[in-house]
Amino acid sequence: MKRKVFIKSLLGFAGLGLFSGVYAWQFEPFWLQFVKKKMTIPNLPQSLKGKTLMQISDIHVGNKFDWNYIIDSFQKAKLYNPDFVVYTGDFVTYEDENQFTQLETVLKSAVKGKIATVAILGNHDYGHGWSNSVVANSIVELLQKAGIQVLRNEEAEFDNLTIIGFDDFWGTNFNPEKAMKNYNSSKANLVMCHNPDVCDLDIWKGYKGWILSGHTHGGQVKPPFLNPPMLPVKNKKYSAGEIDLNDGRTLYINRALGHLWQVRFNVRPEITIFELA
Ligand SMILES: [Fe+2]
Repeated sequence: MKRKVFIKSLLGFAGLGLFSGVYAWQFEPFWLQFVKKKMTIPNLPQSLKGKTLMQISDIHVGNKFDWNYIIDSFQKAKLYNPDFVVYTGDFVTYEDENQFTQLETVLKSAVKGKIATVAILGNHDYGHGWSNSVVANSIVELLQKAGIQVLRNEEAEFDNLTIIGFDDFWGTNFNPEKAMKNYNSSKANLVMCHNPDVCDLDIWKGYKGWILSGHTHGGQVKPPFLNPPMLPVKNKKYSAGEIDLNDGRTLYINRALGHLWQVRFNVRPEITIFELA
């Protein structure tokens, strides 16, 4: 009898393990969550209050997973009819030139904002070793062809909202000095920066406001009540979600729409919808 109970529980555990494995491999990586947040921006003009800004990050088009999932997610996202759409880097998981044609196909369905659509690059957009500026330039060209404006250490103003875009920290063109050159604290500002570790560098010129990041994918796997064990950042506090940096800056780390390895547990893929206030 005792033996029977033992075998039964053993089978139970094996079943649970198998279920969790299949869940983390086949289900959660494609179980998109739309996360809604309020974003208070100092000096925001009345005309932009209540408008929506959608953040999409780390789509990682390539051979690691079926990128039709990204196209499907874009279709769902379009139903929200966002005013602004910002893409915070890692458009591809680069192996070779095939990623350009794959990305071009995916971008035919890209989500666009009614007012503006902007992007910055991530480390994966710089090819092998994050060191190939030719790959990065090709991706920028594809984005621009798709009607997405790419900010590389520069700012752009849309209906009196200034969006400042940093080029990637690990890439070959990181120049925060240039990005912050025209920073004017009396305007309404928003910063896009792929890698959240940049928040800890001494380059911010007293910036107050939101910083939108990606890069970590939330660690992709997170045991309940613990930090995710795999985070590609120096500052392990920077895993996911809204983080008050206690100096007037608020960091938001999107958990990514795509992934590198096809496994997610307790870290669902995300598209964020901010309501401006
Ligand atoms: Fe990424």
